[in-house]
Amino acid sequence: MAASSHDAAGKGGFRAWLNKRLPVDEFVESQLTGYFAPKNFNIWYFFGALSLLVFVIQILSGIFLTMHYKVGEATAFDSVEYIMREVEWGWFIRYLHSTGASFFFIVVYLHMFRALMYGSYRAPRELLWIFGMFVYLALMAEAFMGYVLPWGNMSYWGAQVIVNLFGTIPVIGPGLVEWIRGDYGIADSTLNRFFSLHVVAVPFALAFLILMHLVALRQTGSNNPDGIEIKQNLGADGKPVDGIPFHPYYTVKDLVGVGAFLIFFCIVLFFVPTFGGLFLEKPNFEPANPLSTPAHIAPVWYFTPFYAMLRAVPDQQLGALLMLLAIVVFFFLPWLDRSPVKSIRYKGLLSKLFLGAFVIAFVVLGYLGMAPAEGLYVLLARIFTVVYFAFFLLMPWYTRIEKTAPVPQRVTSHA
Ligand code: HEM
Repeated sequence: MAASSHDAAGKGGFRAWLNKRLPVDEFVESQLTGYFAPKNFNIWYFFGALSLLVFVIQILSGIFLTMHYKVGEATAFDSVEYIMREVEWGWFIRYLHSTGASFFFIVVYLHMFRALMYGSYRAPRELLWIFGMFVYLALMAEAFMGYVLPWGNMSYWGAQVIVNLFGTIPVIGPGLVEWIRGDYGIADSTLNRFFSLHVVAVPFALAFLILMHLVALRQTGSNNPDGIEIKQNLGADGKPVDGIPFHPYYTVKDLVGVGAFLIFFCIVLFFVPTFGGLFLEKPNFEPANPLSTPAHIAPVWYFTPFYAMLRAVPDQQLGALLMLLAIVVFFFLPWLDRSPVKSIRYKGLLSKLFLGAFVIAFVVLGYLGMAPAEGLYVLLARIFTVVYFAFFLLMPWYTRIEKTAPVPQRVTSHA
């Protein structure tokens, strides 16, 4: 009896001891159990937590890959082969990382699409959106440099094409390209710096940007499928009537999302890790060869919509500019959307049509970016590039003239 009360006192004692030194309980109360999120989240709200999960998977698998990978043009390719064939579970670690990269973009694209549907980029969440866009840019840089590291033939030629794009910048372009490469061509020095940036600099930048993204999210609170601000309708207890505590409700719900995600992820990882050459392209299983260009140089699928735009115009400078604008225009979304309502549920027909057309354009451009740049493919790329930009540039017009539906007072839930 005396012993058990001593145990209880001991446990309580440690907790009190810890909390005096580190605000653990305070943090849990303010950020989890006392943080109220809208109660009508649907499956589209899984993808933020899933992006976080994939980020962790990439960091962990990356740490183990780096233990065996040997940077350098003479050793990189062979060390990756060594990982695949000789290192225990090496194939698993490598495929975890390469499949993880594609899944990162899958979940982030779905996450961004949710924001487009529900107007989550709108005031007061502009900064949250802008941090998200910087995360996306950092993710693109991270994926591009990671792809160069195995020093396969597509790594080499992909790097050649992408780094040369900087050469289209007037005046400073050619010097900039040399500075990025650290040599007169894609070379050992390029590989070494990409390794350093991929393993240290960009992951740190990503971690910081994700943190800022979440701090900004916590400040405004989440949007929801109805696009209603739940903070504007508080109960007698001062809590939003349409909110529920993040923990345990959403921690548990997100676990369901994690389970479903892991099923899909493991099926691809264990049965089709290269996804028929889509996640790891076939020419990248051959060592880099400056004398042999792959038949079709194409980036991995998540970059191909932009690559299709690059090749849609004959002038490379204009193509590069178009590609840049296709990404930059996302930053301006909060100010392009003039609709009186946030969510697509209450927007008019034009918004629905333009959003649908944008998704189709993005997918078709993604396909065209993998196809050879000739004939009908180029024509289609031009048409869908126009559709892509129309979604953004005509937004101030169509969101203002269309008829919107009345927004309900309280959030709605669909079973
Ligand atoms: C590593 C990448 C990212 C991580 C880990 C991440 C994480 C999260 C998390 C955990 C949430 C809250 C849960 C949810 O709403 O799903 C969230 C919300 C949000 N994120 Fe991200 N995010 C990432 C990338 C992005 C990107 C690229 C964008 C857009 C450019 C973006 C835009 C947003 C917006 C607008 C919200 C608020 C959505 C709403 O409340 O309706 N995020 N993010």
